[in-house]
Amino acid sequence: MATEIRPISEGDIEAAHFLLAYSFTGDRSEQGRIKHVESLGTALALYDDGQMAACLRIFPLQTFIHGASIPLGGVSGVACLPEHRRKGYVGRLLRHALALMREQGQPLSSLFTPHPSLYRRYGWMTASNAVSYRFKPKDISLTNSAPPAGHSYRITDEEWPTIADVYKRFAAPRNGYLDRDECWWKEAIFRRIYDSKRKLGDVAVWANGQDEPSGYLVYHSTSEQPPGAPSIDKMYVEELIALDTNSYSGLLRYLLAHDLAANITLFGTVDEPLSLIVEEPDRIKREILDGFMLRLVDLEKAFAARPAAAAAPEGAFTIHISDPSAPWNQGVWRIESSGGQLAATKADGTADLSTDAAAFAAMYNGFLRPTEAARSGLAESSDRQAAALADRILATDYPPYPSDFF
Ligand SMILES: CC(C)(COP(=O)(O)OP(=O)(O)OC[C@H]1O[C@@H](n2cnc3c(N)ncnc32)[C@H](O)[C@@H]1OP(=O)(O)O)[C@@H](O)C(=O)NCCC(=O)NCCS
Repeated sequence: MATEIRPISEGDIEAAHFLLAYSFTGDRSEQGRIKHVESLGTALALYDDGQMAACLRIFPLQTFIHGASIPLGGVSGVACLPEHRRKGYVGRLLRHALALMREQGQPLSSLFTPHPSLYRRYGWMTASNAVSYRFKPKDISLTNSAPPAGHSYRITDEEWPTIADVYKRFAAPRNGYLDRDECWWKEAIFRRIYDSKRKLGDVAVWANGQDEPSGYLVYHSTSEQPPGAPSIDKMYVEELIALDTNSYSGLLRYLLAHDLAANITLFGTVDEPLSLIVEEPDRIKREILDGFMLRLVDLEKAFAARPAAAAAPEGAFTIHISDPSAPWNQGVWRIESSGGQLAATKADGTADLSTDAAAFAAMYNGFLRPTEAARSGLAESSDRQAAALADRILATDYPPYPSDFF
């Protein structure tokens, strides 16, 4: 059978909608089309004898690492019709997408998936964690009960610039947060990206004593109505951004004022200090969640774009990368830290370390330390000192965090 990969044209949008809605158990009718997502990125499909069999989408995004905003291809909407599964079609689309992202100048790629082993085969690796913190607001009190200077108020999506600068100041020095534009704020933050009803979520801003925004919460609430029983209200906080102590405690007080909620689930970083500033840390249930998978599409450009961590030493190590899906990354590389910047150059001979593209992606953003990779068999190391230096060169100032789901 003849197969071909090409961008999805206007005439094929219906077939793509059916393929996605079928695969993700969505609404297959015209009303179920998530048109805002269609316009957020480029879609590719594999055709089998002229019929669409598999597809994926690439969002043109930017991610922050240590202040640098680095282009990133966000892969989503990966699907294959059941009659064509396990023929290698999605694997072929992913390899095609890698070449395309390289051409488009996106040295990084990330995605979210319930099938990590699939994407690992093609060089993506889990490279961030989030923690869900769940508590009943009535069970929690802050250790510092003094009301902070400032006040809270709610905004709608048209007021997104109110919080964009607060977000940028918070996110830019960190690692893994997206550099958002207006469209992303409106379609993926104020609303949940795959909600076909486009329901507006809640955003509460904290303004400091000078009336300047210095923090905010993005959240939404649900209400279950069990027959013959009172409703069960739940709140989900997708983002808590606070630039200083007053905003942090002001926003938590705002949150805890929702005393009807059966529970509040707050998604935060692994180093979120929440449990340290409450009287009842044992009442907060914590669960670690896998975040995005990361891939170095173009290893050389990914390093050229990545600043070193504040405490990274000057120095270099060599590493052999195996990368059959992106052969331009294959071979021995010298990774150097100099003047606060990292650089990768092709090298000869034997290397200090050896690993595959997937494990190296998780080392690149500081999620996996090279010595831990060697200890667990994800890498081989012929030189323990070089591996220890690689730990410090690739370290990041903050743990990588999946700020935006897509
Ligand atoms: C998951 C899905 C996209 C796979 O598509 P596919 O065309 O069958 O995948 P391929 O045949 O190209 O498989 C490529 C490789 O991944 C493996 N693989 C396929 N599906 C997998 C899965 N669900 N989990 C783990 N590995 C998987 C295959 O075994 C193959 O590996 P191999 O070459 O070592 O044998 C398809 O089953 C699907 O559409 N599922 C429903 C929607 C979905 O889950 N999408 C992905 C969301 S991130």
